[in-house]
Amino acid sequence: MVDVAINAMTEWAANGSNANTGGFFAAADACDALLESTRSVVGEFLGADPNGICLGANMTTMTLAFTRAVARTLKPGDRVVGTRLDHEANVSPWRIACELSGAEHVLAPFDPKNGRLDMAEFEKLVNDRTKWVAVTGASNLIGTMPDLKSVITIAHKNGARVFVDAVALAPHKQINIRELGCDVLATSPYKWYGPHAGVMYVEPTLLDSLPIAKVRPAKDTGPRRFETGTPNFEGIAATQAAARFLIEEDMQKLQAIESAVFAPLLEGLLETRGVRVWGPQDLASRAPTVSFTIDSMTPDRVAQELASKKIAVWSGDSYAMEVVAQLGLTESGGVVRAGIARYVDNDDVKNFITAVRGLVSR
Ligand SMILES: Cc1ncc(COP(=O)(O)O)c(C=O)c1O
Repeated sequence: MVDVAINAMTEWAANGSNANTGGFFAAADACDALLESTRSVVGEFLGADPNGICLGANMTTMTLAFTRAVARTLKPGDRVVGTRLDHEANVSPWRIACELSGAEHVLAPFDPKNGRLDMAEFEKLVNDRTKWVAVTGASNLIGTMPDLKSVITIAHKNGARVFVDAVALAPHKQINIRELGCDVLATSPYKWYGPHAGVMYVEPTLLDSLPIAKVRPAKDTGPRRFETGTPNFEGIAATQAAARFLIEEDMQKLQAIESAVFAPLLEGLLETRGVRVWGPQDLASRAPTVSFTIDSMTPDRVAQELASKKIAVWSGDSYAMEVVAQLGLTESGGVVRAGIARYVDNDDVKNFITAVRGLVSR
């Protein structure tokens, strides 16, 4: 977490406003004001109408609640199209919604050679029975950023709504929901230097009309109908501070800095004999996240070796189990994933490449 978010969290906890919304006293007013100002700042960060910004526990929990509501609108014969590039948090909830409603759940493949979504196959799957398209903004495993504009155009042409999982996109690229035109977009502030929490934009008329499970006294319209129970105010204060921090940092500048640090990382892996890079092999339309394997070692072993040198990487499928399955790596233990955040610098990348080369030459 960035220090301004940590400070906002502790300041909120200490400021005497630990109440709830909808009261006639100052602490309650402060809670209402915090929700309102956070929707406004996060709306600015995501280029979205603040009236659609819902604040919750994390992306997975919010998505499961959202798709449970969608399930009540689906019927046998309807279709939901997902992709094999997606994290399970944007696959399983839709699968469950389809199981509950009798609708069909299909996944568009990606090209295993370059990690790009196969747009021709995707377009074939979307038809006039398609009610929802669930797509990632960036693969959390191999970094691919699908062409969201084209995906959304194809979906909307067929009368389908679009749910974007932007958890792995939001930390790396400027998002503008108004320009994108998606119906729903989910992110996790803990991926963009904020607290462990979730943010979901839901287009306001959809938000008011969906049969969301809620208790009777809760608001019937607006984000509060989706934000079940008492909000995590201190987390929300920190979410607001993290969003403000990134607005001030400027996502375009941040993206340029990250790309410059990531380029030698990707190049170093591609140039190392005995290392195989999975997914996109270039810098275009991708997050600074890369997956690789070493011929002679399991991914878990590689991660353990790197951890002993104080290098933190993930191994396995990182919940992107469809990606790993399509790459044919399920049985062999998945991949090793390395990535850049704003605090990773050129020296970190040099140390990482040296350490990987040390493992290959053993
Ligand atoms: C692409 C992607 N989607 C969804 C999730 C789940 O997010 P959360 O941890 O907020 O439930 C993750 C978590 O790593 C992710 O990387």
